[in-house]
Amino acid sequence: MRAKIAALLLLFLLSLGLTGCIRQQPPVFRIGVALYSQEDTFISTVGQKMERLAKEEEQKRGIKINVTLVDGDRSQSVQNEQVDRFLNQGYDIICVNIVDRTAAAVIVDKAQRANVPVLFFNREPVEEDLDRWESAYYVGADGAQAGRMQGQLVLDAWHERQEILDRNGDGILQYVMLEGEPGHQDTLLRTEYSIKTLQEAGVPLDRLGSSTADWQRGKARLKMEQWLKETDTTIEAVFANNDDMALGVIDACLKSGMQPQDLPLVVGVDATEEAVQAVRDGHMAGTVRNDAEGEAAWMIQVACTLMESKPLEEVVELVDDHYIWLEYSLVDQAAAIAEEQAP
Ligand code: BGC
Ligand code: CA
Repeated sequence: MRAKIAALLLLFLLSLGLTGCIRQQPPVFRIGVALYSQEDTFISTVGQKMERLAKEEEQKRGIKINVTLVDGDRSQSVQNEQVDRFLNQGYDIICVNIVDRTAAAVIVDKAQRANVPVLFFNREPVEEDLDRWESAYYVGADGAQAGRMQGQLVLDAWHERQEILDRNGDGILQYVMLEGEPGHQDTLLRTEYSIKTLQEAGVPLDRLGSSTADWQRGKARLKMEQWLKETDTTIEAVFANNDDMALGVIDACLKSGMQPQDLPLVVGVDATEEAVQAVRDGHMAGTVRNDAEGEAAWMIQVACTLMESKPLEEVVELVDDHYIWLEYSLVDQAAAIAEEQAP
């Protein structure tokens, strides 16, 4: 009997302790992250970084943050359903890497109705759509800057070692362009400004081919294989709107039996791990860092600030009330090597 009473008392005390604990639990915030495609190298990196940074922020702020990543599988209707689910389930913030960047109005309006702030990233909605609601934001980088940096990299090479770059010695740079998805702001801007930079510097150019490869390595490889077969003139330079496509180009060249020293001058954007290694190895001439870490960090910062109902102005000065802009940076061979040696 005594033992029974003691056990009951213990249970009672334990349950008191437990409820006490529950009361002291930190607040739990939920961030829903809708990615256009989890197969995309750059985008999946941003997603992973968000998960890691949320963990760090939990410690710092004494809160609990649940980050849920979902894959839109390149379909806007799939993504709209995912957003609906987040909103119905009472998520505190939604981060949207929108599939079709002309389709943001629907999502902004839904978020506003549910009073859940929405942070778009990497795929930039049209400005009027962001203007529909004060709690709609965009975190990203200016593709024109990346394009100019690619152009500058090629321009420097042209000035420093034209005799090597201009393989057929005609004083003209023969190039091909591999573009990301049609309509993506980074496709349009990187394509335009890379070439403009060379044109403005007076480099004579001859475009041998241009094609979309939807940001994908496999598609870029196939396209390059075709160009290598069909083009009589030597391809001296390749502009790729991102690193995965640049790597696809190199895959094609090496597979065709080309020696590494005979590769055309290839430039990409993103500074993915594999691309930075290719720059170190001298297979790629250079790349432009697309700040995945910064993008993820800003989203987590903004999300936490809003979830804790703190004023956003304390952490960031928004451009035109909605925008947080990140900077690109050039990664040439010296930078790629230095990066590896840095502690
Ligand atoms: C990146 C690409 C990526 C694309 C997806 C671009 O900013 O450079 O690698 O595929 O965004 O939206
Ligand atoms: Ca030439």
